[in-house]
Amino acid sequence: MTTTDMDFGPALNGVLDTVDRWQEQGHYPLFPVISEPLGTRARLADGRMVTVFGSCDYLGLSRHPAVVGGAVEAIERFGTHCYGTQPVGGYTELHQSLEHSLAEFFGKPATALFPTGMQANIGVLTTLAGPADAVLSDQLNHGSITMGGRLSGARLLTFRHNDLDDLAVKLTEAADARRRIIVVDGLFSADGDFAPLAGIADLADRHKALLIVDEAHAGGTVGPRGRGVAELLGVLDRVDVVTGTMSKAFASTGGFACGSHRAMRLVRHSAGAYLLSLGLAPATVGASLAAVHVATAEGASLRARTAANAKALRERLQEAGVNIGASAAHVVLVHIGRIDDAARIATRLLENGLLVNPLFPPAVPIGGARLRIGVTSAHSEAEIAAAADALVSALAS
Ligand SMILES: Cc1ncc(COP(=O)(O)O)c(C=O)c1O
Repeated sequence: MTTTDMDFGPALNGVLDTVDRWQEQGHYPLFPVISEPLGTRARLADGRMVTVFGSCDYLGLSRHPAVVGGAVEAIERFGTHCYGTQPVGGYTELHQSLEHSLAEFFGKPATALFPTGMQANIGVLTTLAGPADAVLSDQLNHGSITMGGRLSGARLLTFRHNDLDDLAVKLTEAADARRRIIVVDGLFSADGDFAPLAGIADLADRHKALLIVDEAHAGGTVGPRGRGVAELLGVLDRVDVVTGTMSKAFASTGGFACGSHRAMRLVRHSAGAYLLSLGLAPATVGASLAAVHVATAEGASLRARTAANAKALRERLQEAGVNIGASAAHVVLVHIGRIDDAARIATRLLENGLLVNPLFPPAVPIGGARLRIGVTSAHSEAEIAAAADALVSALAS
């Protein structure tokens, strides 16, 4: 047997059948090949220009001279590579500075840097939770949280999206667990709404639970200082661990966890997701470090622009009767339903010069396929108006 003719079983064969069907029908929107990324515009390999509304570069920092300069200087000083994993050579002065800058940015005592935000969630959950514990996870949390909860061996209790009553029921069910750990996205990538963190923090207190908030989409962009939804809602000091990524507002790659010195020391000495990958490349860390400094110095005006642009797009779509569900910020979700419709509409949009992210199960519930639109500070009014028009006409076709 080879993998060419192997039967992968119904679920995975179904994935391959779907890809074949979309390709045969000319409705395959994935893996557009980018040849020239130019901020909010990009050239595809076939020469077409598209406007990018599928990016998480929410503060428009990927071309910021200081951020590009940070990457270049890091390569010049440290080369392209690290000696090893972080404990054994893959931890430079740059890594250390980034940890300190992130701890300060998010107002927590300590930080652990991970290769990706996905690994940060997995690393934190597998460290703080074990088989005797219960992880209480919102049903729309990012897949890396679900994965971390499963890998931890803890009882994984999923509560209905943003439903405090259901969370309270699940916490009571978990009363016999050694530890209860509540984990939520701050700004949900699949629904574009905020977690009700004040109510969640109250429940965490009442049930003596730890609280982890993944601020991947809100870090840098939400809250008076960009510290995320927990800051916006005034509960940052009640959050035990903030996780996040450098791959969105900070326009780089890498993940992080911010929390107490003790918890971060434990993560840095025991989490497989931390210890089993090489330290982040110097260029990446240099860009991230510069991005955190820019997000501190220039963040307030950039955040205001992102928020105003997002509001303008949401209003245009709502006025045209487009279903954007609970979208409340710069992550705007257009709800479609069937995966084939989402694939067809995303392909049509790409043909008409608009790049957006189609989301399919398991990232969203079955029957809940949608388009995710990332609004940034760099989009112009004209680009927002054109994107809204393109979406409205693609949805009508
Ligand atoms: C909510 C959330 N958490 C974590 C991640 C993972 O971040 P990274 O791209 O750094 O792996 C993502 C997506 O990228 C996300 O949307």
